[in-house]
Amino acid sequence: MKILVTGGCGYIGSHTCVELLDNGYEVVIVDNLSNSKREVVDKIKEITNKDLTFYEGDVRNQELMEDIFERENIDAVIHFAGYKAVGESVQLPLKYYRNNLDSTLTLCEVMSKYNVKKLVFSSSATVYGSPKSLPIKEDFPLSTTNPYGSTKLMIENILKDLVIADNSWSIAVLRYFNPIGAHSSGLIGEDPNDIPNNLMPYIVKVATNELECLSVFGNDYDTKDGTGVRDYIHVVDLSRGHLKALEVINKTIGIDYYNLGTGKGYSVLEIVNTFSKVNNVKVNYKIVGRRPGDIASCYADPSYAKEKLGWVAEKDIVDMCRDAYNFVIKNKTK
Ligand code: NAD
Ligand code: WQD
Repeated sequence: MKILVTGGCGYIGSHTCVELLDNGYEVVIVDNLSNSKREVVDKIKEITNKDLTFYEGDVRNQELMEDIFERENIDAVIHFAGYKAVGESVQLPLKYYRNNLDSTLTLCEVMSKYNVKKLVFSSSATVYGSPKSLPIKEDFPLSTTNPYGSTKLMIENILKDLVIADNSWSIAVLRYFNPIGAHSSGLIGEDPNDIPNNLMPYIVKVATNELECLSVFGNDYDTKDGTGVRDYIHVVDLSRGHLKALEVINKTIGIDYYNLGTGKGYSVLEIVNTFSKVNNVKVNYKIVGRRPGDIASCYADPSYAKEKLGWVAEKDIVDMCRDAYNFVIKNKTK
Protein backbone atom coordinates (compact mmCIF):
# COMPACT_ATOMS: atom_id res chain seq x y z
CA MET A 1 0.00 0.00 0.00
CA LYS A 2 1.20 3.48 -0.82
CA ILE A 3 0.50 6.10 1.85
CA LEU A 4 0.60 9.87 1.34
CA VAL A 5 1.82 11.46 4.57
CA THR A 6 1.15 15.19 4.76
CA GLY A 7 3.50 16.90 7.22
CA GLY A 8 5.68 13.79 7.14
CA CYS A 9 8.86 15.71 8.00
CA GLY A 10 7.40 16.90 11.29
CA TYR A 11 7.70 15.37 14.74
CA ILE A 12 4.91 12.79 14.69
CA GLY A 13 4.89 12.44 10.90
CA SER A 14 8.56 11.45 10.68
CA HIS A 15 8.16 8.75 13.33
CA THR A 16 5.08 7.45 11.55
CA CYS A 17 6.96 7.29 8.23
CA VAL A 18 9.59 5.11 9.94
CA GLU A 19 6.92 2.73 11.22
CA LEU A 20 5.22 2.64 7.82
CA LEU A 21 8.44 1.83 5.96
CA ASP A 22 9.46 -0.74 8.58
CA ASN A 23 6.11 -2.45 8.03
CA GLY A 24 6.25 -2.70 4.26
CA TYR A 25 4.23 0.37 3.25
CA GLU A 26 5.40 2.70 0.49
CA VAL A 27 5.61 6.33 1.63
CA VAL A 28 5.11 9.63 -0.17
CA ILE A 29 5.62 12.78 1.91
CA VAL A 30 4.34 16.25 1.14
CA ASP A 31 5.63 18.93 3.50
CA ASN A 32 6.30 22.64 3.04
CA LEU A 33 9.02 22.54 5.74
CA SER A 34 7.36 25.42 7.60
CA ASN A 35 8.13 23.63 10.88
CA SER A 36 10.64 20.96 9.90
CA LYS A 37 13.84 20.35 8.01
CA ARG A 38 14.57 18.62 4.73
CA GLU A 39 17.28 16.47 6.35
CA VAL A 40 14.55 14.56 8.18
CA VAL A 41 13.85 12.75 4.90
CA ASP A 42 17.42 11.39 4.90
CA LYS A 43 17.17 10.46 8.56
CA ILE A 44 14.02 8.44 7.90
CA LYS A 45 15.82 6.65 5.05
CA GLU A 46 18.86 6.04 7.26
CA ILE A 47 16.81 4.51 10.08
CA THR A 48 14.77 2.26 7.83
CA ASN A 49 17.22 1.61 5.02
CA LYS A 50 14.26 2.15 2.69
CA ASP A 51 13.46 4.74 0.06
CA LEU A 52 10.56 7.18 -0.01
CA THR A 53 9.30 9.99 -2.24
CA PHE A 54 9.38 13.56 -0.98
CA TYR A 55 7.49 16.54 -2.42
CA GLU A 56 8.40 19.89 -0.93
CA GLY A 57 5.26 21.99 -1.09
CA ASP A 58 2.06 23.13 0.50
CA VAL A 59 -0.99 20.92 0.93
CA ARG A 60 -3.08 24.01 0.14
CA ASN A 61 -1.60 24.05 -3.37
CA GLN A 62 -4.29 22.23 -5.34
CA GLU A 63 -2.17 21.96 -8.48
CA LEU A 64 0.68 20.32 -6.58
CA MET A 65 -1.68 17.94 -4.79
CA GLU A 66 -3.34 16.92 -8.06
CA ASP A 67 0.09 16.36 -9.56
CA ILE A 68 1.00 14.07 -6.64
CA PHE A 69 -2.21 12.05 -6.99
CA GLU A 70 -1.69 11.91 -10.77
CA ARG A 71 1.86 10.53 -10.45
CA GLU A 72 1.58 8.33 -7.38
CA ASN A 73 -0.87 5.55 -6.91
CA ILE A 74 -1.98 6.65 -3.45
CA ASP A 75 -4.12 4.20 -1.45
CA ALA A 76 -4.65 6.21 1.74
CA VAL A 77 -3.60 9.46 3.39
CA ILE A 78 -2.37 10.32 6.88
CA HIS A 79 -2.89 14.04 7.39
CA PHE A 80 -0.47 15.61 9.90
CA ALA A 81 0.17 18.93 8.13
CA GLY A 82 -0.94 21.92 10.16
CA TYR A 83 0.15 24.45 12.73
CA LYS A 84 0.04 23.38 16.37
CA ALA A 85 1.21 26.11 18.75
CA VAL A 86 -1.67 26.98 21.08
CA GLY A 87 -0.28 30.35 22.23
CA GLU A 88 0.53 31.51 18.71
CA SER A 89 -2.97 30.53 17.59
CA VAL A 90 -4.39 33.00 20.12
CA GLN A 91 -2.16 35.78 18.72
CA LEU A 92 -2.60 34.85 15.05
CA PRO A 93 -5.93 33.05 14.73
CA LEU A 94 -6.31 33.69 11.00
CA LYS A 95 -2.96 32.03 10.29
CA TYR A 96 -4.22 28.91 12.08
CA TYR A 97 -7.70 28.83 10.56
CA ARG A 98 -6.26 29.49 7.10
CA ASN A 99 -3.61 26.78 7.20
CA ASN A 100 -5.33 24.03 9.15
CA LEU A 101 -8.73 24.36 7.46
CA ASP A 102 -7.55 25.11 3.93
CA SER A 103 -5.03 22.28 3.88
CA THR A 104 -7.71 19.81 4.95
CA LEU A 105 -10.29 21.13 2.46
CA THR A 106 -7.86 21.03 -0.44
CA LEU A 107 -6.65 17.58 0.55
CA CYS A 108 -10.17 16.16 0.77
CA GLU A 109 -11.23 17.74 -2.52
CA VAL A 110 -8.26 16.24 -4.31
CA MET A 111 -8.76 12.88 -2.61
CA SER A 112 -12.39 12.91 -3.75
CA LYS A 113 -11.39 13.74 -7.30
CA TYR A 114 -8.94 10.83 -7.40
CA ASN A 115 -11.32 8.53 -5.55
CA VAL A 116 -8.94 7.96 -2.64
CA LYS A 117 -11.26 8.00 0.35
CA LYS A 118 -9.25 6.54 3.20
CA LEU A 119 -7.96 9.10 5.66
CA VAL A 120 -6.31 9.16 9.08
CA PHE A 121 -6.54 12.58 10.70
CA SER A 122 -4.42 14.03 13.54
CA SER A 123 -6.83 15.47 16.06
CA SER A 124 -6.08 16.26 19.66
CA ALA A 125 -7.31 15.81 23.21
CA THR A 126 -7.73 19.58 23.11
CA VAL A 127 -11.19 18.97 21.56
CA TYR A 128 -12.41 17.83 25.00
CA GLY A 129 -11.91 21.34 26.43
CA SER A 130 -12.31 21.10 30.21
CA PRO A 131 -13.48 17.49 30.64
CA LYS A 132 -16.34 16.89 33.05
CA SER A 133 -14.63 13.85 34.56
CA LEU A 134 -11.61 11.59 34.08
CA PRO A 135 -10.51 9.47 32.34
CA ILE A 136 -11.74 10.97 29.07
CA LYS A 137 -13.84 8.79 26.76
CA GLU A 138 -14.46 9.47 23.07
CA ASP A 139 -18.15 10.29 23.59
CA PHE A 140 -17.45 13.13 26.07
CA PRO A 141 -18.80 16.58 25.10
CA LEU A 142 -16.50 18.54 22.79
CA SER A 143 -15.47 22.16 23.20
CA THR A 144 -12.38 24.26 22.72
CA THR A 145 -10.51 27.00 24.53
CA ASN A 146 -8.25 28.41 21.79
CA PRO A 147 -8.18 28.87 17.98
CA TYR A 148 -5.82 25.91 17.46
CA GLY A 149 -8.27 23.62 19.24
CA SER A 150 -11.13 25.13 17.29
CA THR A 151 -9.42 24.25 13.99
CA LYS A 152 -9.23 20.61 15.13
CA LEU A 153 -12.88 20.53 16.15
CA MET A 154 -13.97 22.25 12.94
CA ILE A 155 -12.02 19.74 10.89
CA GLU A 156 -13.60 16.86 12.82
CA ASN A 157 -17.01 18.33 11.89
CA ILE A 158 -16.02 18.80 8.25
CA LEU A 159 -14.92 15.16 8.07
CA LYS A 160 -18.15 14.01 9.72
CA ASP A 161 -20.21 15.91 7.14
CA LEU A 162 -18.09 14.50 4.34
CA VAL A 163 -18.89 10.94 5.45
CA ILE A 164 -22.59 11.78 5.80
CA ALA A 165 -22.61 13.09 2.22
CA ASP A 166 -20.57 10.24 0.75
CA ASN A 167 -20.52 6.97 2.65
CA SER A 168 -17.68 5.53 0.63
CA TRP A 169 -15.20 7.47 2.79
CA SER A 170 -13.42 5.73 5.62
CA ILE A 171 -11.88 8.05 8.21
CA ALA A 172 -10.10 7.50 11.51
CA VAL A 173 -9.86 10.57 13.71
CA LEU A 174 -7.05 10.08 16.20
CA ARG A 175 -7.15 12.28 19.30
CA TYR A 176 -3.61 12.42 20.62
CA PHE A 177 -2.87 13.15 24.25
CA ASN A 178 0.66 14.51 25.01
CA PRO A 179 3.25 13.01 22.65
CA ILE A 180 6.85 13.13 23.89
CA GLY A 181 10.05 11.12 23.41
CA ALA A 182 11.89 10.26 20.23
CA HIS A 183 13.03 7.36 18.07
CA SER A 184 15.57 5.23 19.95
CA SER A 185 18.16 5.84 17.20
CA GLY A 186 18.32 9.49 18.26
CA LEU A 187 18.13 10.48 14.59
CA ILE A 188 14.64 11.99 14.68
CA GLY A 189 12.77 13.71 17.48
CA GLU A 190 11.15 16.96 18.50
CA ASP A 191 13.29 19.88 17.47
CA PRO A 192 11.56 23.25 18.01
CA ASN A 193 13.47 26.26 16.67
CA ASP A 194 11.96 28.76 19.06
CA ILE A 195 11.62 28.72 22.83
CA PRO A 196 9.42 25.68 23.44
CA ASN A 197 5.86 25.98 24.71
CA ASN A 198 5.49 22.35 25.71
CA LEU A 199 6.86 20.77 28.84
CA MET A 200 9.25 18.10 27.59
CA PRO A 201 11.12 20.18 24.99
CA TYR A 202 11.50 22.88 27.64
CA ILE A 203 12.89 20.42 30.20
CA VAL A 204 15.36 19.15 27.62
CA LYS A 205 16.63 22.66 26.90
CA VAL A 206 17.10 23.35 30.61
CA ALA A 207 18.97 20.04 31.01
CA THR A 208 21.33 21.00 28.18
CA ASN A 209 21.80 24.52 29.61
CA GLU A 210 20.23 26.23 26.59
CA LEU A 211 17.59 27.62 28.92
CA GLU A 212 18.15 28.53 32.53
CA CYS A 213 15.15 27.32 34.43
CA LEU A 214 11.81 25.61 33.88
CA SER A 215 8.79 27.55 35.08
CA VAL A 216 6.32 25.12 36.58
CA PHE A 217 2.94 26.65 35.89
CA GLY A 218 1.11 26.37 39.20
CA ASN A 219 1.36 24.04 42.21
CA ASP A 220 -2.10 24.71 43.57
CA TYR A 221 -4.14 22.41 41.32
CA ASP A 222 -6.27 19.69 42.83
CA THR A 223 -3.79 16.97 41.78
CA LYS A 224 -1.41 14.57 43.54
CA ASP A 225 1.29 17.24 44.10
CA GLY A 226 -0.53 20.40 42.98
CA THR A 227 1.06 20.53 39.51
CA GLY A 228 -0.75 19.77 36.24
CA VAL A 229 -1.34 16.14 35.29
CA ARG A 230 -1.20 14.90 31.69
CA ASP A 231 -1.25 11.67 29.72
CA TYR A 232 2.22 11.59 28.12
CA ILE A 233 2.57 9.10 25.30
CA HIS A 234 5.75 7.96 23.55
CA VAL A 235 5.77 9.21 19.96
CA VAL A 236 6.71 5.75 18.66
CA ASP A 237 3.67 4.19 20.36
CA LEU A 238 1.55 7.00 18.94
CA SER A 239 2.94 6.40 15.45
CA ARG A 240 2.14 2.71 15.66
CA GLY A 241 -1.47 3.65 16.38
CA HIS A 242 -1.62 5.15 12.88
CA LEU A 243 -0.73 1.81 11.30
CA LYS A 244 -3.47 0.11 13.30
CA ALA A 245 -5.91 2.81 12.16
CA LEU A 246 -4.88 2.27 8.53
CA GLU A 247 -5.60 -1.45 8.85
CA VAL A 248 -9.07 -0.71 10.20
CA ILE A 249 -10.06 1.95 7.64
CA ASN A 250 -8.92 -0.39 4.92
CA LYS A 251 -11.64 -2.84 5.93
CA THR A 252 -14.45 -0.48 6.97
CA ILE A 253 -16.38 2.60 5.90
CA GLY A 254 -17.58 5.60 7.92
CA ILE A 255 -15.86 7.73 10.51
CA ASP A 256 -14.66 6.80 13.97
CA TYR A 257 -12.76 8.53 16.78
CA TYR A 258 -10.00 7.11 18.96
CA ASN A 259 -8.13 8.38 22.00
CA LEU A 260 -4.44 7.67 21.67
CA GLY A 261 -3.06 7.92 25.18
CA THR A 262 -1.70 5.61 27.84
CA GLY A 263 -4.48 6.13 30.35
CA LYS A 264 -1.92 7.19 32.99
CA GLY A 265 -1.50 10.72 34.29
CA TYR A 266 1.83 12.18 35.42
CA SER A 267 2.33 15.51 37.14
CA VAL A 268 4.83 18.14 36.00
CA LEU A 269 7.05 17.39 39.00
CA GLU A 270 6.90 13.65 38.37
CA ILE A 271 8.12 14.27 34.82
CA VAL A 272 10.90 16.61 36.01
CA ASN A 273 12.06 14.16 38.68
CA THR A 274 11.90 11.11 36.41
CA PHE A 275 13.79 12.96 33.69
CA SER A 276 16.54 13.99 36.16
CA LYS A 277 16.87 10.51 37.57
CA VAL A 278 16.81 8.57 34.29
CA ASN A 279 19.29 10.87 32.57
CA ASN A 280 21.33 11.74 35.65
CA VAL A 281 21.03 15.45 34.94
CA LYS A 282 19.81 18.41 36.96
CA VAL A 283 16.72 20.32 35.82
CA ASN A 284 16.42 23.71 37.52
CA TYR A 285 12.84 24.73 38.08
CA LYS A 286 10.79 27.31 39.90
CA ILE A 287 7.11 27.40 40.69
CA VAL A 288 5.26 30.28 39.02
CA GLY A 289 1.60 31.14 38.54
CA ARG A 290 -0.82 29.06 36.48
CA ARG A 291 -0.69 29.37 32.68
CA PRO A 292 -3.98 30.83 31.41
CA GLY A 293 -6.15 28.19 29.75
CA ASP A 294 -4.50 25.19 31.45
CA ILE A 295 -6.62 22.55 33.11
CA ALA A 296 -5.62 20.57 36.22
CA SER A 297 -5.69 17.07 34.79
CA CYS A 298 -6.18 15.36 31.47
CA TYR A 299 -5.82 11.67 30.70
CA ALA A 300 -7.41 9.22 28.34
CA ASP A 301 -9.51 6.16 28.61
CA PRO A 302 -7.72 4.33 25.78
CA SER A 303 -9.90 1.19 25.93
CA TYR A 304 -11.79 1.93 22.69
CA ALA A 305 -8.53 2.07 20.71
CA LYS A 306 -7.54 -1.23 22.31
CA GLU A 307 -10.88 -2.84 21.45
CA LYS A 308 -11.29 -1.52 17.88
CA LEU A 309 -7.72 -0.94 16.71
CA GLY A 310 -5.97 -3.59 18.79
CA TRP A 311 -3.59 -0.85 19.91
CA VAL A 312 -2.09 -0.16 23.32
CA ALA A 313 0.83 2.05 24.31
CA GLU A 314 3.78 -0.09 25.38
CA LYS A 315 6.49 2.37 26.36
CA ASP A 316 6.66 3.91 29.81
CA ILE A 317 7.64 7.27 31.21
CA VAL A 318 11.28 6.16 31.68
CA ASP A 319 11.51 5.34 27.94
CA MET A 320 9.97 8.72 27.10
CA CYS A 321 12.41 10.70 29.27
CA ARG A 322 15.44 8.71 28.13
CA ASP A 323 14.63 8.92 24.41
CA ALA A 324 13.77 12.64 24.50
CA TYR A 325 17.18 13.42 26.04
CA ASN A 326 19.08 10.95 23.85
CA PHE A 327 17.83 12.71 20.70
CA VAL A 328 19.02 16.10 21.86
CA ILE A 329 22.38 14.88 23.19
CA LYS A 330 23.09 13.04 19.93
CA ASN A 331 22.23 16.05 17.81
CA LYS A 332 24.11 18.55 19.96
CA THR A 333 27.41 16.72 19.67
CA LYS A 334 27.18 16.24 15.89
P1 NAD B 1 4.99 19.42 13.44
O1 NAD B 1 4.86 20.88 13.34
O2 NAD B 1 6.29 18.84 13.91
O3 NAD B 1 4.63 18.74 12.04
C1 NAD B 1 3.71 19.30 11.13
C2 NAD B 1 4.36 19.29 9.77
O4 NAD B 1 3.44 19.82 8.82
C3 NAD B 1 5.63 20.14 9.70
O5 NAD B 1 6.67 19.39 9.11
C4 NAD B 1 5.24 21.33 8.81
O6 NAD B 1 6.34 21.79 8.05
C5 NAD B 1 4.14 20.72 7.97
N1 NAD B 1 3.13 21.65 7.46
C6 NAD B 1 2.40 22.56 8.14
N2 NAD B 1 1.52 23.17 7.33
C7 NAD B 1 1.70 22.64 6.09
C8 NAD B 1 1.08 22.82 4.83
N3 NAD B 1 0.10 23.71 4.65
N4 NAD B 1 1.52 22.09 3.79
C9 NAD B 1 2.51 21.18 3.93
N5 NAD B 1 3.12 20.96 5.10
C10 NAD B 1 2.71 21.67 6.17
O7 NAD B 1 3.80 18.90 14.39
P2 NAD B 1 3.57 17.46 15.04
O8 NAD B 1 3.80 17.59 16.51
O9 NAD B 1 4.25 16.43 14.26
O10 NAD B 1 1.99 17.36 14.84
C11 NAD B 1 1.44 16.72 13.71
C12 NAD B 1 -0.08 16.87 13.77
O11 NAD B 1 -0.55 16.32 14.99
C13 NAD B 1 -0.56 18.31 13.71
O12 NAD B 1 -1.73 18.36 12.94
C14 NAD B 1 -0.85 18.63 15.16
O13 NAD B 1 -1.83 19.61 15.29
C15 NAD B 1 -1.34 17.29 15.67
N6 NAD B 1 -1.18 17.13 17.11
C16 NAD B 1 0.06 17.31 17.68
C17 NAD B 1 0.21 17.17 19.05
C18 NAD B 1 1.53 17.43 19.72
O14 NAD B 1 1.56 17.68 20.93
N7 NAD B 1 2.65 17.38 19.01
C19 NAD B 1 -0.88 16.82 19.84
C20 NAD B 1 -2.12 16.62 19.22
C21 NAD B 1 -2.25 16.77 17.85
C1 WQD C 1 1.93 20.00 29.99
C2 WQD C 1 1.92 20.38 31.46
C3 WQD C 1 1.58 22.73 31.85
C4 WQD C 1 5.35 24.02 30.01
C5 WQD C 1 -0.60 21.04 24.61
C6 WQD C 1 -1.75 21.51 23.76
C7 WQD C 1 -2.55 20.32 23.29
C8 WQD C 1 -1.66 19.29 22.61
C9 WQD C 1 -0.47 18.94 23.46
C10 WQD C 1 -1.64 19.70 20.26
C11 WQD C 1 0.84 21.40 31.82
C12 WQD C 1 2.97 22.30 32.32
C13 WQD C 1 4.30 23.26 30.50
C14 WQD C 1 6.18 24.71 30.94
C15 WQD C 1 4.88 23.80 32.75
N1 WQD C 1 -1.11 19.78 21.39
N2 WQD C 1 4.07 23.14 31.84
N3 WQD C 1 5.92 24.55 32.27
O1 WQD C 1 -0.83 22.13 27.56
O2 WQD C 1 -1.19 19.67 28.10
O3 WQD C 1 -1.11 20.38 25.76
O4 WQD C 1 0.21 20.12 23.87
O5 WQD C 1 -2.74 19.29 19.99
O6 WQD C 1 -3.50 20.82 22.42
O7 WQD C 1 -2.57 22.36 24.53
O8 WQD C 1 0.97 20.41 27.05
O9 WQD C 1 3.40 20.29 27.33
O10 WQD C 1 2.30 22.57 27.15
O11 WQD C 1 1.97 21.20 29.21
O12 WQD C 1 4.68 23.69 33.95
O13 WQD C 1 7.12 25.43 30.58
O14 WQD C 1 3.18 21.02 31.77
O15 WQD C 1 1.04 23.68 32.72
O16 WQD C 1 0.39 21.08 33.11
P1 WQD C 1 -0.61 20.73 27.22
P2 WQD C 1 2.22 21.15 27.60
